Amino acid sequence: MPRAGRFIFVVLGLLFLAATTEAQLTAESQQKTGFVRLDRVTASRATDNGIKIRSGSAVVQISALRDDVLRVRVGPSGQLPEDASWAALASARSATAKVTPETSASTVGFKTARLRVTVRKDPMELKVTDLEGHVIAQDFPGRPIEYHGSSFRVYMKSPADEHYFGLGDKPGPLDRRNEAFTDWNTDAFGWQESTDPIYKSIPYFITFRKGVSAGIFLDNTWRSSFDFNKEYRDGFSFGSEGGPLDFYILYGPEPKAVVQSWAWLTGFTPLPPLWSLGYQQCRYSYYPEAEVRRVASRLRSEHIPTDVIWLDIDYQLKNRPFTVDPERFPHFDDMIQDLKAQHLHTVAITDLHIADLPNAGYKPYDEGKAGDHFVKNADGSTYVGVVWPGKAVFPDFTEKASREWWGTLYADFVRKGIAGFWNDMNEPAVFLAPSKTMPDDVQHRIDEPGFAPRTASHLEIHNVFGMENSRGTYEGLRKLAPDTRPFVMTRASYAGGQRYSATWSGDNSSTWNHLRQTTPQLINLGLSGFAMTGADVGRFAGSPQPELLTRWLEVAAFHPIDRDHTAIGTNPQEPWENGTREDLNIRRHYIEERYRLMPYLYTTAEEMSRTGLPIMRPLFLEFPNGGTGGEPVDLSTGNAFLLGPDLLVAQSPYPDEMDDYTVALPSAVGWYNYWTGARIATDSDRKAIDNDVVTQPEVHVHRSLDTLPVFVRAGAIVPEQPLVQSTDEKPQGPLTLRVYPPIGANKECSGSLYLDDGVSYAFQKGEFLRLGFTCRLSAQGLMVTVTAPTGSFAPWWKLLSVEVYGASRPAAAASASALDGSGATQISTGYDDEHHRITALIPDTGKGLELQLTY
Ligand code: GLC
Repeated sequence: MPRAGRFIFVVLGLLFLAATTEAQLTAESQQKTGFVRLDRVTASRATDNGIKIRSGSAVVQISALRDDVLRVRVGPSGQLPEDASWAALASARSATAKVTPETSASTVGFKTARLRVTVRKDPMELKVTDLEGHVIAQDFPGRPIEYHGSSFRVYMKSPADEHYFGLGDKPGPLDRRNEAFTDWNTDAFGWQESTDPIYKSIPYFITFRKGVSAGIFLDNTWRSSFDFNKEYRDGFSFGSEGGPLDFYILYGPEPKAVVQSWAWLTGFTPLPPLWSLGYQQCRYSYYPEAEVRRVASRLRSEHIPTDVIWLDIDYQLKNRPFTVDPERFPHFDDMIQDLKAQHLHTVAITDLHIADLPNAGYKPYDEGKAGDHFVKNADGSTYVGVVWPGKAVFPDFTEKASREWWGTLYADFVRKGIAGFWNDMNEPAVFLAPSKTMPDDVQHRIDEPGFAPRTASHLEIHNVFGMENSRGTYEGLRKLAPDTRPFVMTRASYAGGQRYSATWSGDNSSTWNHLRQTTPQLINLGLSGFAMTGADVGRFAGSPQPELLTRWLEVAAFHPIDRDHTAIGTNPQEPWENGTREDLNIRRHYIEERYRLMPYLYTTAEEMSRTGLPIMRPLFLEFPNGGTGGEPVDLSTGNAFLLGPDLLVAQSPYPDEMDDYTVALPSAVGWYNYWTGARIATDSDRKAIDNDVVTQPEVHVHRSLDTLPVFVRAGAIVPEQPLVQSTDEKPQGPLTLRVYPPIGANKECSGSLYLDDGVSYAFQKGEFLRLGFTCRLSAQGLMVTVTAPTGSFAPWWKLLSVEVYGASRPAAAASASALDGSGATQISTGYDDEHHRITALIPDTGKGLELQLTY
């Protein structure tokens, strides 16, 4: 080696030794104090898909799982945390992308095909940008990652115009900016707008700034917290009181891309059974049997389209899960069958707390005890807590064998024909305990691929307990009825829980403010992965005013799950109760509209199961640059939402107020009134109440009890069906295609339809039907095209009714032909000036067709 080279080698060696000795010293003192501060890069090396950094005793690994997905893992004492997760799929965690190392005198880092990761060495600061230079995430200056014992916190910069969404079911405004939250699953009966935490822990949020979005997920099941602009007005932070620092950064830039990456990382919502999208009737509780039958008959005699009746805890013997009270329900099995004959599916509650009943012939207890399936106290005895059945024991859901055993408990109910199951109280809720849950030192066993088998305290497991409960149920049902799509409803969950169950917003109240809360809450749940969501319609705690119930049933008709539910001791809340005949007619009308829209709703649900896009969407998801000036229109108000890609539902921002209100529509496209079919003329340059000039196009809404404003995106084709009383019924009549011609520069429109048997997995073998629709505006008029179907499922219709909206006069001529233009025949059309629509009825040959309208 030349002399100069030897010199450099010796100097580098000495430096390395100094760094190592310093690291050792720091490690020793840190071990004593438990304080670790990652303020300086002391060493680094490139890895296959990123970089590994030392900062004193700590190690940081940043890896690219994809060009647009990064994972950051930190170990305070030199070892990375276990590569295990309840949320992030193993397939995603093991993915890798190619990176190019990038270093400078003061930085280390790397580049992927989409992102640049730069770590300043001293002080140590992480910065992630896209290749256009947009900052995706950046450490907050002067606040490096710190550990205090087992707790840690990460601080990041927050530009003043950045907005935050997600975090599951947290109440409050749509935008999480200026809010702070804790993740600790809690039975929150009667929660209010400011209550936190409530039922779910989804430590994941989406950032949005000037059309550029990213997702940040702290994969940590311990009690964690998030602060947006409270501690630092220009910073946000997240941390936990224990467990791993393991977080992911998902890059958009479109918010839709972030949502889709979230599903890639944590899993998709499975395609639900079609019936779960129908109207559902619940209360705590319908009993005895005669009462269930009475409600069922009344639903039918009042012609309220309905798919589901729920059985809450009182069907059970003394609230003991997996039992039936033989006195209240002497003909339980017949009742289930009779409901089925009326096209009503039954969903039964099956809470996780097993009655503590030794030697009483209670199978769930006896089997669970014999199989050693219950959660234990620190001293090894079985943990007993009081819940609905009185003293109860709890299956150890993080242990595979216990979860599998739990799944077998459903065999009897599945055999009886119960269609879906409700996992409630799984935070887990424990009565009489000051913490409302199990003690921190209760022991759970972890037996799960990726995790080293071990015992873990409740502090680690609490936030995933509910999700693993719903997983046990879902996986059990998959085994018991392999060709039937399960429907599971859970109250508590963690990130990734959408793989197993739907959810709802828990025990809300019959107040106008809760009606208002529903929109941001369900939107944020959808952005957090839970697309199959609803809120108790009419509300759980208390009895609504008739107008409140009516308005609730109106908006819930456009929610992913539409379930009317109320608490014990409240007034009856079925659609015919608590209101006038006029109320009933309005309520029925909205539920009917949901059933007419079922092809569109189911198509949206199928899209969800394939892409991860939620059913209920914030406007900024579809129109990230959709308002005047390129800013989305709903970042602060949060009262409007999209059902699927095309329907915009705009409840009043203050539904209890009598005043008229305005709805800001994304200006990127034109809009139609869903109810009247008229094109929307918008005002601009209006003076707002605070005298600001509003330049965003707005629609003025005059409030009336019977109208919930719904708008349709110009350029949409929305499939609808004739009214049925249950999704079990085959619709009689044509498939309707509501065509909303494009407005403005765009000349095209599109839509689609997905259909299958609604219950089984035959769709995975090709037994589905998919159609694409397009339209094109030209000087001659409008050409509507229906593609030839793919898939082998037979349609229920023989005729297509094409309805073209926004038409101010009848069509002058219309002809239909095959897709290649052959066999053109003139067809007659109708015109309805009240709804501004031209209608053409065309036989569907099943081979695709073109319709040319001249008007
Ligand atoms: C919990 C649920 C509620 C249910 C009740 C009785 O409060 O959140 O929906 O009706 O328990 O099971």
